[in-house]
Amino acid sequence: GSWPYPTLTGAAPLVIAHRGASGYLPEHTLEAYALAIELGADFIEPDLVMTRDGHLVVRHDSYLSTTTDVADRPEFADRRTTRGDRTDWFVDDFSLAEIKTLRARQAFPGRARDHDDRYEIPSFAEVLRLAAGESARRGRPVGVYPETKHPGHFAARGLDMAQPLLDALATLEALPGRVPVFIQSFEPEILDRLKAASDWPLIVLVYPVTGADGTVRPSVSLERAAAVADGVGPAEALLVDATGADTGFVARAHAAGLAVHPWTHRLDQVPPWAADGRVALRRLYALGIDGIFSDFTDAAVTLRALD
Ligand code: G3P
Ligand code: CA
Repeated sequence: GSWPYPTLTGAAPLVIAHRGASGYLPEHTLEAYALAIELGADFIEPDLVMTRDGHLVVRHDSYLSTTTDVADRPEFADRRTTRGDRTDWFVDDFSLAEIKTLRARQAFPGRARDHDDRYEIPSFAEVLRLAAGESARRGRPVGVYPETKHPGHFAARGLDMAQPLLDALATLEALPGRVPVFIQSFEPEILDRLKAASDWPLIVLVYPVTGADGTVRPSVSLERAAAVADGVGPAEALLVDATGADTGFVARAHAAGLAVHPWTHRLDQVPPWAADGRVALRRLYALGIDGIFSDFTDAAVTLRALD
């Protein structure tokens, strides 16, 4: 039947595989994305950073030590540098060919490590080809939900993210299968550029900012978000307060015409107000969210089917 909760369009919420099926496999690998698709994800989520030679690759961070074997690779020992308060290996000091020699590791405490040091770091182009191929093979849309990470940081180093992103997405036209797209960023300025240059649906990511008076507001106002984007990707803490009560955020965003895709559902990391991760997700579904970023694709799909 139809979805019982007040989503923007009345449709059931989208399940967005956060960094792939990252609850089970090292995040941001083709294997983690493929598992997410197998488990029924509507979208897979690649976080994008840039190499020295201007290629988009998928990593959450601009440094490499936490999710790859780079620290154990003698040939890269001299690439370790200090930027600000972090000493690490930074992705924009590496070429794409060098990044492809690294292997991914589980970064999250408490999750299985038996797939460490086996899987490559994908380029964004590889993720698009995977989604298109799986979409064609399965006869259902498999979406891609890229996030531009730190575009201001890369721009300051002479690396523009917007045009390579648009160029990569333009290749979808020639690939098989239907691949829906949302582009997300915490930095609305890059979304302004993408809006001027393309028709891709855009999502502004927002996190809670606590004011001097103790009130919590989104890092980007809903008015600013509505001026550029089709939806917002809020931290869950903006939707539900410390007691589990509705803050009214979903209704306000919907009134502004914005879809709401919160992050992050993690079965193994539960907000203080919820008994477990399933309770937490059911609460969000009941608020009328339009999508959910989840590390545990199967749980998000199964709980959605119960409503
Ligand atoms: O993009 C939504 C969510 O992924 C934001 O958090 O830090 O996991 O990219 P993060
Ligand atoms: Ca992300």
